[in-house]
Amino acid sequence: MSKAKIAPSLLAADFGNLQRDVEMVNKSEADWHHIDIMDGVFVPNISYGMPVVKAISKHATKPLDVHLMIVDPDRYINTFAELGATYLTVHYEACTHLHRTIQAIKAAGMKAGVALNPHTNVNLLKNIIKDLDLVLIMSVNPGFGGQSFIENSYEKIRDAKELIKMNESKALVEVDGGVTIKNAKALIKAGADVLVAGSFIFKSGDPGTTIKELKAATDK
Ligand code: DX5
Ligand code: ZN
Repeated sequence: MSKAKIAPSLLAADFGNLQRDVEMVNKSEADWHHIDIMDGVFVPNISYGMPVVKAISKHATKPLDVHLMIVDPDRYINTFAELGATYLTVHYEACTHLHRTIQAIKAAGMKAGVALNPHTNVNLLKNIIKDLDLVLIMSVNPGFGGQSFIENSYEKIRDAKELIKMNESKALVEVDGGVTIKNAKALIKAGADVLVAGSFIFKSGDPGTTIKELKAATDK
């Protein structure tokens, strides 16, 4: 039986103990490290920048799944490649020339993802879906951890899966925001391949066990 991937969002980690939290993810049943970059312009919050990603990269043993919530992401594509990103995801709403951006991510040796805000229709990706490795469905408005899951996201996950199938794309569907053990199974059923979870994991008493429980809930 195949399982969905779990990507703990380090946004909810204890930054005073970042190495400890990255190593917890290394040792856990998680699949990726999810890294949220916010610029205070595209979203109303600033998370962390390159020196912190460098520190995470130094200790991480699993693929780095970098989610850029920034305007004009083309400026930093090569930097994230040098920092060791495996997946680099940009926002549809932040890219004027999305096709060019996706090609640049791939030319830099990374897998390319596109994130969609809650209001953005999945079908807008129709003409680029074949080129994508990942579609990230935002199930909260991006910018902050700890928000409530938006129920309409199930329909968007189903739409994304359908678009991928229709176009014989290999893209994975990732869901980010408000993911917990309560909605994990339903998200997988709707078609999610990767679940991002921040608060649910890091604010729990025992993050390693929480990841294990989440993973166990994701049989496909
Ligand atoms: C929100 C970020 C998320 C965030 C998720 O803009 O993209 O990755 O860390 O946090 P939770 O799981 O707490 O909703
Ligand atoms: Zn994210």
